[in-house]
Amino acid sequence: MGSSVLPDNAVRLPQTPQLHALLTIIRDRDTPRSDFIFYSDRIIRILVEEGLNYLPVDEHTVMTPTGVPYTGVAFHGRICGVSILRAGEAMETALREVCRSVRIGKILIQRDERTAQPKLFYAKLPDDIADRWVLLLDPMLATGGSAIQAMNVLVSHGVKPEKIIFLNMIASPEGLQNVWKAYPQVRVVSAWVDSKLSDKNYIIPGLGDYGDRYYSG
Ligand code: PRP
Ligand code: URA
Repeated sequence: MGSSVLPDNAVRLPQTPQLHALLTIIRDRDTPRSDFIFYSDRIIRILVEEGLNYLPVDEHTVMTPTGVPYTGVAFHGRICGVSILRAGEAMETALREVCRSVRIGKILIQRDERTAQPKLFYAKLPDDIADRWVLLLDPMLATGGSAIQAMNVLVSHGVKPEKIIFLNMIASPEGLQNVWKAYPQVRVVSAWVDSKLSDKNYIIPGLGDYGDRYYSG
């Protein structure tokens, strides 16, 4: 999918040779679990860094050691992460590495293996989440059902859709369209956009079941 046909709320990471190479490693079915974890953690780190570029900043002046003031910017408002379990939990470490002491909520959603319909099991979110920007974390966006259900949970807890930034590693065009139709105000940042969904609603070419590869090898 070329970037020209991405929905207006979606962006991709710069499609660099490095990113392409990292993704090639984790797509390889012969990549062992330890390498899958190492290289997907590297991609996630790039994704989280890019996601932070969508947070608003305000002008902020500091005094430098030279005694001269410097007018720069500071992040405006507080953030939190929310991971969609299980696979989204793999993205928490990178967020903690770049945002010290960040609060992280969790939403457990599982796709029915036969129908691909998402089922919500529980949500544990910061009490003040309605006052925060939310980085929603899940590496795979297939039909979009799980992401949309997680966004429904966030909105039911008072989060404004325009304060949600959804970070995912591999998206399908169908999933991006479905998220766009449901929540056009949510910013979606994907590392890569693949060709399509299979008849079993897996991303093609994709990398298989992310949670199984990261957690069970
Ligand atoms: C995977 C993935 C997403 C979802 C994507 O999770 O991590 O949450 O499927 O599919 P969708 O866009 O069609 O909803 P899964 O439910 O398999 O659970 P897991 O994280 O435990 O592997
Ligand atoms: N979940 C995954 O882990 N991979 C897919 O391709 C679709 C859903």
